[in-house]
Amino acid sequence: MATNRTFTMIKPDAVENGHTGAILEKINAAGFRIVALKKTQMTTRDAETFYAIHKERPFFGELVEFMTRGPIIAAVLEKDNAVEDFRTLIGATNPAEAAEGTIRKLYATSIGENAVHGSDSDENAEIESNFHFAGREMF
Ligand code: RTP
Ligand code: MG
Repeated sequence: MATNRTFTMIKPDAVENGHTGAILEKINAAGFRIVALKKTQMTTRDAETFYAIHKERPFFGELVEFMTRGPIIAAVLEKDNAVEDFRTLIGATNPAEAAEGTIRKLYATSIGENAVHGSDSDENAEIESNFHFAGREMF
């Protein structure tokens, strides 16, 4: 299993607010190589499946509504220590707690609408990459 790859989504709030270019620029500047990239819109079923781990949480319905309300950018990223370094680059889930200079500090509006997703483990990076890019060769 690749340990140098992670998966990200630029979420509907950030796409709506015109932050796609700035976020991709920060990802590049931080030394990540873009292995695969697409703009797409998740269906309700997609979002329920992708975030199934949270299905018992009180915010699950809101999360699914949010993630399906507009287009997202899905991407596979490559760098040494990708999962951990990308979580550092995006910052805490709640932008109010995110470190200065992180993507969420700069572009997120709330704990729910927090601009970007980043995989939390190598295993989930692979599952999530396959979810969005199944059957594609990734270089
Ligand atoms: P993500 O999976 O999107 O990268 O975010 P994360 O690991 O930092 O946070 P996680 O606990 O996995 O939560 C997934 C997403 O659910 C929404 N959320 N809303 N209203 C709330 O209290 C709440 N808590 C979480 C956020 O969109 C969060 O990123
Ligand atoms: Mg998470």
